[in-house]
Amino acid sequence: MNAAITGVAAYVPETTLTNADLEKMVDTNDEWITSRTGIKKRHILKEEGKATSDMGAEAVKELLKKTGTKAEEIDLIICATVTADMTFPDTANTISYKVGMKNAYGFDLSAACSGFLFALTTGAKFIETGTHKKVIIVGADMMSSIVDYTDRTTCVIFGDAAGAVLLEPDMDSQGVIDSVLKADGVGGKYLNRKGGGSLNPISQDVVDNRMQYLFQDGRPVFKAAVNGMTTAVKEVMNRNGLEPSDINWMVPHQANMRIINAVADFMDFPRERVMKNIQEYGNTTAATLPLCLRDYEDQLKKGDNLILTAFGGGFTWGATFLKWAY
Ligand code: UT7
Repeated sequence: MNAAITGVAAYVPETTLTNADLEKMVDTNDEWITSRTGIKKRHILKEEGKATSDMGAEAVKELLKKTGTKAEEIDLIICATVTADMTFPDTANTISYKVGMKNAYGFDLSAACSGFLFALTTGAKFIETGTHKKVIIVGADMMSSIVDYTDRTTCVIFGDAAGAVLLEPDMDSQGVIDSVLKADGVGGKYLNRKGGGSLNPISQDVVDNRMQYLFQDGRPVFKAAVNGMTTAVKEVMNRNGLEPSDINWMVPHQANMRIINAVADFMDFPRERVMKNIQEYGNTTAATLPLCLRDYEDQLKKGDNLILTAFGGGFTWGATFLKWAY
């Protein structure tokens, strides 16, 4: 028995932050941002009192509506995020409460930009063992809550969004087939948020040193991302006897258009069969993969072979082979 994605939905905040807006905030320009990243705008959650769980709840409500599922039918919700509303309770719990999923338990999973991939694989196991029938996987991040809008090297990259998929049992060989997931703490120093955890609890010193914000040393992350995603995609394809011509769509984490194109080119994979929407949303961390699936849903057909791949803080990375089920 496989776990198949039987629906996908997403929520993107209305307020946008364009390259022109950023030109007024830091020393940058549209030409640099477009040529180095491919990003034209990002969506930012500006509403007072709203947080990651609100975006997640909107995505889940839409998912339940689209799939004709009642909130009480959901057994489990896993929320991939690095911008939880609070350290605890977990965001999955808060989303359940906001949506009225009274029979669901849940938990958050922290793997940065690989979070959705790790959570998808985790959720699929609950279905494959036969213990759970309806599992929701959310990827949601309010990156604007941890981005330093005086740091031009990071503030041009990230945006806010949430995406969600429903996983259900499939006896017809569709769904999640195989995953290669990896982690290596050597990357911790290149991409992190040092403040607010148990190592550096919130203090005046943390704030004075701007440690409450995301830090990234872009170049080593760029190289590791291209290498990590390419290696993971190759491994999952080899393991399943797949050639690029067998794959209908590659679904890469949307961190940088140059990274996306480099991975496709290394794989000899035609760029027109690679999902891309980074120009619209920037890097929304755990939300990029479900957001891609939502935007390309109309072009997907039952039985299509998809390779999802991601790379993020940790480092964490991986690739998943799945067959689209509807
Ligand atoms: O999703 C999680 C994983 N994250 C990633 O995969 C991100 C990986 N890294 C990247 O995407 C790229 O490294 C960045 C987009 C972050 C940066 O691009 P880059 O081509 O690696 O640029 P760089 O950091 O090497 O900087 C080149 C120059 C520097 O100036 P100097 O030192 O050569 O004079 C930067 O100060 O560009 C400068 N720069 C900017 N200039 C205008 C950096 N940010 C900006 C900016 N506008 N926003």
